[in-house]
Amino acid sequence: MTKEALQSEARLLAAPKSSFVWGVSTSSFQIEGAAHIDGRGDSIWDVYCRKPGTVKNGDTGETACDHYHRYGEDVALMRDLRIDAYRFSISWSRLLPRGRGAVNEHGLAFYDRLIDALLAAGIEPWICLYHWDLPQALHELGGWQNRDIAGWFADYAALVARRYGDRVKRFATFNEPCVFTLFGYGLGWNAPGIADADALHKAIHHVNLSHGAAIGALRTTVPQASVGAIHNRQPCFPAGTSPNDAAAAVKFAGYWNDAFPYPQHFACYPAALAEAVEPFQKPGDMALIAQPVDWFGLNHYSPHYIKADHNVIGATFGAPPPNVPRTTIGWPIVPDAFRDTLLDVHRRFSLPIYILENGTATDDTLDGAGHIEDAGRIAYLRAYIDAMQEAIAAGVDVRGYFVWSLLDNFEWTSGYSQRFGLTYVDFATQRRIPKASARWYANLIAANRRRL
Ligand code: NOJ
Repeated sequence: MTKEALQSEARLLAAPKSSFVWGVSTSSFQIEGAAHIDGRGDSIWDVYCRKPGTVKNGDTGETACDHYHRYGEDVALMRDLRIDAYRFSISWSRLLPRGRGAVNEHGLAFYDRLIDALLAAGIEPWICLYHWDLPQALHELGGWQNRDIAGWFADYAALVARRYGDRVKRFATFNEPCVFTLFGYGLGWNAPGIADADALHKAIHHVNLSHGAAIGALRTTVPQASVGAIHNRQPCFPAGTSPNDAAAAVKFAGYWNDAFPYPQHFACYPAALAEAVEPFQKPGDMALIAQPVDWFGLNHYSPHYIKADHNVIGATFGAPPPNVPRTTIGWPIVPDAFRDTLLDVHRRFSLPIYILENGTATDDTLDGAGHIEDAGRIAYLRAYIDAMQEAIAAGVDVRGYFVWSLLDNFEWTSGYSQRFGLTYVDFATQRRIPKASARWYANLIAANRRRL
């Protein structure tokens, strides 16, 4: 696409408010690599990747995008995108190799360098404390199934806040807590690979407790901090016409959409899991969990089509209707579901919303000229940003939009087979090549900024 065409397309978008934040997101395990450099301890994902058959092609996070060593180059890529903000996560086991106790100064210093480089490039750092990479040493003490983890997590949050709070004001506690609890403890599909009803419900409650404890620690340590959590919400439609699928969709939505936002905002569990979580609650827990936050962080990619199952929650993923287009990872492309999700979050939670992940995997290959013309990603982003604009026009208070992701990276059990980046990574050489979508996004940001 020519520069002129990109610009005229960008002008089609309604200008958001002047404070609107455009950004990109990543996470520690998915990009950093340097898994055993400078004192980092194992996380549950390091251990899980070593188990044969867990991750496609036997891929691991050992090197990933080698961002630990190439962060300077990656910040330069972000500067070229002209983004306002960068959301990344901290590797808990890089700062505290055993999850608690001895602090690893090398790990702390890495994020100092990253934050300073971002600030020098005019990019605001947004820190997420937990993006699924629990220190293995804590897992061996019960991990999210051990109630003590609320204290361990609060201590870790306070360490992060003390070290970086002079330069960072935006903090999120957890990324997609429903995914790592359900997949990791309920269904056994992700690290640490447990499939057990009690493990799932303990983990859910202890993550909620940890969220509340961490919000307290962040606010005490950085009084000007702006804090929240990052939830993925998606409409859950029945995959078939049977009453069983209809009931399964309702149950699934309780776990997927409400298991964390409900206690955190309304001090109660949704009906789908209230009884199952009850045995793990103590008096006063809800008051600790339901701390006021400053914004609602939303991740959204697609709606779900759910069918009945015999697993611990009685529900699983079914096939979308055949006429719905899908991405390479198989997710339905339904921009209207994004608009409806934004309207729903606005109606339920009445908070400013930051979209902290949206994007798509596509089949990206280098053409003869060494370019990646990822038209599918541009079409996806255009349609989803249009849907966001519709929600804004309808009165939804959206304050920012972050693309997942800056770089192609380790896509969990899909390994490196699914490319979500605005930047292509040649994993053999670590060469970075901005895709056509990177130019498109930079133009979109610039066009909207000029109009403010
Ligand atoms: C959700 C997760 O937060 C992120 O880690 C993942 O790579 C993307 N979505 C794409 O699946």
